[in-house]
Amino acid sequence: MPEQLTEHVRTLADGAAIPILGLGVWQVANGRETENAVRWALELGYRHIDTAQAYGNEESVGKALRDSGVPREEVFITTKFFPRHRDPVAAAEDSLRRLGIEQIDLYIIHWPEGGPTWAWSGMEQAREQGRVRSIGISNFSTKELDEVLGAATTKPVVNQVQFSPFEYRRALLESCEQHGVVLEAYSPLGTGRHLDDRTIVEIAERHGRTPAQILIRWAIQRGTVVIPKSTHRERIEENARVFDFELSAEDMSELDRLDRTGGTAAAREGKWWS
Ligand code: A2P
Repeated sequence: MPEQLTEHVRTLADGAAIPILGLGVWQVANGRETENAVRWALELGYRHIDTAQAYGNEESVGKALRDSGVPREEVFITTKFFPRHRDPVAAAEDSLRRLGIEQIDLYIIHWPEGGPTWAWSGMEQAREQGRVRSIGISNFSTKELDEVLGAATTKPVVNQVQFSPFEYRRALLESCEQHGVVLEAYSPLGTGRHLDDRTIVEIAERHGRTPAQILIRWAIQRGTVVIPKSTHRERIEENARVFDFELSAEDMSELDRLDRTGGTAAAREGKWWS
């Protein structure tokens, strides 16, 4: 499994390589729960962990990384700027301290609170100072992405959004692709809600796979980087077994039709920050 997972990477517009599959740790408690999930993931061959300042678990991500014995340079670590803080540079320094690492691989604005552009020069500064390798955004619509691109010296390399067959934001995906921005899919399982859907279960049965594997595979075949979350070792393992089968064009169309967003260019149907 480890060799298999590290083979699957995307090259970002700035030349950095990001593993297509990562472990997300949203809503995982700092302490033992995060430490276990991250340690298991690293043991099982994951080389990409996605955390955030707002999750409050960067310390445990860092501890698990150190305890795993996996060399730092083999693991891709994302964290996110909490936009209720003012200064992305100072906040990156705090994240580095909590994570216990020298450089963040990917640092993204968690959501466009206060507007899409104000924090971007601070993000660019964190990159220029070498404290972060790549910079990006999250929860930005096509319009907000366009505004950042208009203001940027260094373009964002990813836009991380809620994305699944049920939230197939086709117009947003297309605008990201046009601008060379990789879409990262968070909540690919609908935070677990999509796993019982009849279509998902039927396709899973046809392939002899699990519903989670079908949803993750769909995200991969749609060209995204995907970060399912689990706190269970066997599920973390199951979620990584997605590179040894393929969904057919018919399966993909059937899944695409589950979209409830109308192919939107929006990142969210409702905004929790405004
Ligand atoms: P748990 O953390 O208890 O394993 P998403 O990635 O869309 O946010 O979904 C995460 C949710 O889906 C969590 O509640 C997680 O539960 C659950 N989950 C993750 N992987 C699986 C799986 N393979 N089978 C069933 N539930 C899963």
